[in-house]
Amino acid sequence: MKTNINVNIAQAAAVAPESAVKALLPEAADALAKVDNGTGAGNDFLGWTDLPTHTTQAELEDIIATARSLQKDCEYVVCIGIGGSYLGAKAVIEALSDSFAAYRIDYTNPKVIFAGQNIGEDYLFELRNLLADKKFGIIVISKSGTTTEPAIAFRILKEQLEQRVGKEEASRRIVAITDAKRGALRQLATEEGYKTFVIDDNVGGRFSVLSPVGLLPIAVAGYDIMALMAGAAEMQLATKEATLENPAVVYAATRNALYRAGKKIEILVNYNPKLHFLAEWWKQLYGESEGKDGKGIFPAAVDFSTDLHSMGQWIQDGERTIFETVISVDAPEHETIVPTDNDNLDGLNYIAGKRVDEVNKMAEIGTRIAHVDGGVPNIRITIPALREQYLGQLIYFFEKACGISGYMLEVNPFDQPGVEAYKRNMFALLGKPGYEAETAAIRAKI
Ligand code: PA5
Repeated sequence: MKTNINVNIAQAAAVAPESAVKALLPEAADALAKVDNGTGAGNDFLGWTDLPTHTTQAELEDIIATARSLQKDCEYVVCIGIGGSYLGAKAVIEALSDSFAAYRIDYTNPKVIFAGQNIGEDYLFELRNLLADKKFGIIVISKSGTTTEPAIAFRILKEQLEQRVGKEEASRRIVAITDAKRGALRQLATEEGYKTFVIDDNVGGRFSVLSPVGLLPIAVAGYDIMALMAGAAEMQLATKEATLENPAVVYAATRNALYRAGKKIEILVNYNPKLHFLAEWWKQLYGESEGKDGKGIFPAAVDFSTDLHSMGQWIQDGERTIFETVISVDAPEHETIVPTDNDNLDGLNYIAGKRVDEVNKMAEIGTRIAHVDGGVPNIRITIPALREQYLGQLIYFFEKACGISGYMLEVNPFDQPGVEAYKRNMFALLGKPGYEAETAAIRAKI
């Protein structure tokens, strides 16, 4: 099956020629089989692989009905979560939203605001201020139900909501997405009678955007989750065979070929500011999946042409350990033409009458040629437009490629032992019960 996502590796050929990529096909095939058949490390976390085709119509309709209820009751919906319980929804909503939605008073759906993704005191203070006279609801998302950042945000905003509308109405405006049985959030949701959705045990946080974790906030923001899932299902079917027709195999094999040739850093590039958070989601997906056992491509991201004016020098001329993966959107949603100016004082009349996107595309091509000439291999991923169906395809493509790539790297792509270290130290410093021994040890290091 063909999808609308195209992966072009021709401009990576100076370091990873097609022959090198083809030579990795047997390894990629083996890795793909591990993902599809569940025969590799971390195989108890492969539930994400068939979310697009196994999520039922009834489950999607339940999510949509819950979203409608929040839309009806709220001007703002605060989506509380961090990491995999935050980035997927943020990425899709930003990609699909009007860039100035936050400033528009004519916006019909509730504005989705994110919290619990940091511990910024001013952030929470200012959020409480914003919500002080607004009708708002809360979606609280935590798979473990015990993560500190969202737990703090939820405690603060739950108190505010209850004070404003009373406990009973607040319980109607809070939806919890968490483990089926375990964790403090599950217990709280049961006691308070919140509407809940389950994050299945076999779906890890960074692979959870196509579960209620991502789908509910995306639906609340007004976007078509049926189309998103349909696109993801198309990519699920298109990434089954171990051939160069499979875009996930091509991407995984090429980036591993580049890594083995000394390209240790991958920079995800976009030429559309709406993709900034898709790159943040991608960074978590690849960073947490591959960065372990002393290995892993370092995932970085830039927004072009903005960052050509800050990172462009380094990329063109710095240490030659990088490669670029560009996500290029074929067509913008709206047309804006550069006007003619009779005085032409800015000298821009040579592009008068052209669409802004044509200028952007020339920036992309010019940059690609300059960077490839400067020793930066380039993988180009094209997507027809920022629409739900194509984003669904893109998300599943990156997830599948991540599983394949992680196995090719010979790591377990589905655990994240390194994320725990900071938490232990923070708990010890804060004096959390049970961390007494660590408290003494860490205080000695300050
Ligand atoms: O990918 C992961 O597992 C992490 O980034 C988690 O999503 C993040 O730590 C949040 O965890 P939780 O959903 O349990 O609150």
